[in-house]
Amino acid sequence: MEQKSGGRKKNRIRGIFVLAVILMALVIWLQPSGQRMETVPEYVFSYAENQAWDYPTTLGAVRFAEMVEERTDGRIRILVYAEGVKGVEGEIIRQMKYGGIDFARVSLSQLAEYIPEMNVLQLPYLYTDSAHMWRVLDGEIGDEFLTKADEYSLVGLSWYDAGARNFYTANRPITCLEDMEGMRIRVQESEMMADMVEALGANAVKLGYADVYSGIERGIVDGAENNWPSYESMKHDEVAKYYTVDEHTRVPEMQICSGKTWEKLSEEDRNIILECARESALYERALWEERENASKQTALLRGAQAIELSAEEKKRFQTAVQGVYEKYCGGQMDMIERILAEGGAEAGTD
Ligand code: GCU
Repeated sequence: MEQKSGGRKKNRIRGIFVLAVILMALVIWLQPSGQRMETVPEYVFSYAENQAWDYPTTLGAVRFAEMVEERTDGRIRILVYAEGVKGVEGEIIRQMKYGGIDFARVSLSQLAEYIPEMNVLQLPYLYTDSAHMWRVLDGEIGDEFLTKADEYSLVGLSWYDAGARNFYTANRPITCLEDMEGMRIRVQESEMMADMVEALGANAVKLGYADVYSGIERGIVDGAENNWPSYESMKHDEVAKYYTVDEHTRVPEMQICSGKTWEKLSEEDRNIILECARESALYERALWEERENASKQTALLRGAQAIELSAEEKKRFQTAVQGVYEKYCGGQMDMIERILAEGGAEAGTD
């Protein structure tokens, strides 16, 4: 009798123990997804980014990855590789065609090397200001060019901001067109950007982004051109303190997905990715605005000198590069007109 009740007691304790384990498991499972025990993802994708971890485009990428993971309940994980560890942009784009890298954020100038019609969106002195560029990119034209990425087996997801690019030099400032004469200026791996710089009287030298600092330091080039955040983030101001604000180009950035990766995804996942890409772009654009100003202040505090071109001088720069319009976008005059129609009277060709 006593043995029987002892057995029942043991069974009850075992039952309570099993119930407690089940309850604990349930509590863990029902926690918000971020804290839930690791779900094994169905897909793990790579995302290439060549800027530092605290840079607006990288923060946008991280936000994008987080949103995708959350909205797919952990089924899609995107690992962001920042600081250019996956290689130079041109090479990234080439690898994406074959699915070697799944996602990236790249400068349009690099994409235009594969899809030349994209050059029209980064012609020198094309946009009157940032608002003009965003009217173009956020409208039908921007969508048409996101779709154009298909031609290189890529999917254009969204547009990121990269502000306006300006010249900066090591030993003497650029204050007028004549100052450009004979200067060796680093440009991106872009034929059009090289021609633009040569049209202004300088010699263009193509160098990778990561090599600009040492290129200036070692005197391989006299200067380069980029936006305030890149100038400050890459510490180019340490070796080239004269920053001439001429805003010769606005080169937007595109967030892209490899066509091979896209093929693997369901319609539902594609929509989630597109939605997250566009939301992350808005986030990046807000960060960009803050960073542009902060970078300018930091560079100036560290000793950089900003040189503003007079309106008259800027006009001379603008006139000098008109040949680039004809050479690279001669067949796209309608598109140029559509872009100019979104801006003020000052934009574009004379
Ligand atoms: C910008 C852009 C980079 C690019 C760089 C360059 O910083 O964000 O993606 O590589 O310009 O000048 O090469």
